[in-house]
Amino acid sequence: MKRLLIIWMLAHPLQHYQCSAVIFKMTNAVCESYNKTWVEFGLCRLRAVSRNKVCLNVDANLLYPVHDVIVKARLLKRANGYKPWLYSVSFDGCQFIRRRNNALIRIVWELFKEYSTINHTCPYVGLQQVKNFYLRSEKLPTPIPTGEYLLMIDWVFNKKPQAATNVYFTFVEDLKDS
Ligand SMILES: *[C@@H]1O[C@H](CO)[C@@H](O)[C@H](O)[C@H]1NC(C)=O
Ligand SMILES: *[C@@H]1O[C@H](CO)[C@@H](O)[C@H](O)[C@H]1NC(C)=O
Repeated sequence: MKRLLIIWMLAHPLQHYQCSAVIFKMTNAVCESYNKTWVEFGLCRLRAVSRNKVCLNVDANLLYPVHDVIVKARLLKRANGYKPWLYSVSFDGCQFIRRRNNALIRIVWELFKEYSTINHTCPYVGLQQVKNFYLRSEKLPTPIPTGEYLLMIDWVFNKKPQAATNVYFTFVEDLKDS
């Protein structure tokens, strides 16, 4: 019994330490408008709060209402340049906000929703913001392999790409665990 307790006590701080050893942070963010009469980015910036916490702030001004959004997302992983990795999805943004019916998109949404003003239904117009968003590994259902990633999102309004937001991030697995 006593031995078990000691093992438990040893294991717990260790687990805690292992969790915090994961690095999951953004390294670059690029926002681009393809149609400046419709979408204007006022801000698209990362800010390092501490060594392993980097916050993203985006201000996007929609100068005309958006009633119809297709979100095209690709996840790439670096290996001699960025190569497609695992997922490529395309979904109706207006419908997703209503139904939240795709597992992968829900993960991204869970990471993101508290930090954004886009948690309402269509139409979207005026200033859309992401405020002090940062990545939290505890929100991932499963770790991903150590590496450098790029999440590319094309925002398609009225059937044409109008803007792109590309976010680069690093994930470093808990190596002591494997
Ligand atoms: C650019 O945005 C304006 C305003 O919404 C729109 O009328 C126009 O069709 C868009 N241009 C393209 C190429 O989609
Ligand atoms: C959207 O986010 C705001 C601020 O975090 C929150 O107060 C509001 O309840 C959210 N709305 C929905 C529909 O989730």
